[in-house]
Amino acid sequence: MSSPSAVWNFASGPARLPDAVLARAGDVLFRRGADGATAIERPFTGTAVRAVLESARERLTQLLEIPANYRVLFLAGGAMQQFSAVPLNLLDPDSDLRTAAYADSGYWSRRAMQEAARFAEVSVIARHDGREALAAPAVGKWHVPTGCAYCHITANETVDGLAYPAWPDTGEVPLVADVTSCFLSAPLDISRFGLLYASAQKNIGPSGMTVVIVREDLLRRPAQSAPSPLCYRLQAEQDGCINTPPVMAIHLAALVFEWIAELGGLSAMAETNRRKAALLYQAIDSSDGFYTAPILVAHRSMTNVRFHLADDSLTERFLIDAEQAGLTNLRGHRHVGGLRASLYNAMPLAGVGALIDFMKEFRQSNG
Ligand SMILES: Cc1ncc(COP(=O)(O)O)c(C=O)c1O
Repeated sequence: MSSPSAVWNFASGPARLPDAVLARAGDVLFRRGADGATAIERPFTGTAVRAVLESARERLTQLLEIPANYRVLFLAGGAMQQFSAVPLNLLDPDSDLRTAAYADSGYWSRRAMQEAARFAEVSVIARHDGREALAAPAVGKWHVPTGCAYCHITANETVDGLAYPAWPDTGEVPLVADVTSCFLSAPLDISRFGLLYASAQKNIGPSGMTVVIVREDLLRRPAQSAPSPLCYRLQAEQDGCINTPPVMAIHLAALVFEWIAELGGLSAMAETNRRKAALLYQAIDSSDGFYTAPILVAHRSMTNVRFHLADDSLTERFLIDAEQAGLTNLRGHRHVGGLRASLYNAMPLAGVGALIDFMKEFRQSNG
């Protein structure tokens, strides 16, 4: 087979970054200034790094229309650090807030609750009801006990390929969401949440950084046992600079936020993302069962399209042929098998079109 003219990387993360951002990144990150330093060689206590932090925060605040009573932190580390940071900060045994409610929607929510169980009494308040097609827990049926410190959801299950079509109402109990794999893919009503977190390597930038958006009243919880770098209150007091912040990732994130704004903001992102996902799901659904998507239609993820070959013995051949056709990183997560195409913001329609064309050809040759 001749070598493909374009190669499309469907990795779930670290994922493809926008070409326009990569084109700017060299100049922004690696060109020495009059002070003899590049952007990633300057002290984080100095004005230059503080200015980048401020501009990244301002751009993100504008994109998401983050209300004034929320703080935005750019912290070192991944979303898994937040699996511990959330209970360490939000539990308050002195006020009887010892229990944390978790919704079990798949792989990442289970990982989150395993970590939380080190610090909290975990109450699983919702899970998929066992129907044939997989789905996120139905949001209408939740009864979160008022004594819970918070209620945690994984907004988009990257591995399972499912997403919540609506947010649950948790009453007085703050809703906490891991939004790692759907962050910035569409507008988000921040006011529905007490706290959100997203690691960067899907739609924000390179790995090694996590964005935390936290409602100010939650910073008043004592967080007595939280190590300083994981303590939201201390980090908020010091602008996320209690230790060295992930400077390179913040620079790149600022460029990504700028790119999103230039393309028309989150509504424009959502429109393109919906189109990409609709085209791919349509190709799966119209394949007469050659390809199948196991998720209930209304709960299908727009960013992580999980699908399978009805004849699983063809999966390896599919992956080899796809790679040769310039379509890489389509293997499903080892816990669920099959195939997965991650369609984050930086994946253009052309990449999805190339995948769909390949899928049709593969079906013709192997159906
Ligand atoms: C939904 C979700 N949560 C958490 C994580 C873990 O993130 P990290 O590897 O940044 O710790 C991932 C990683 O893919 C994820 O998709």
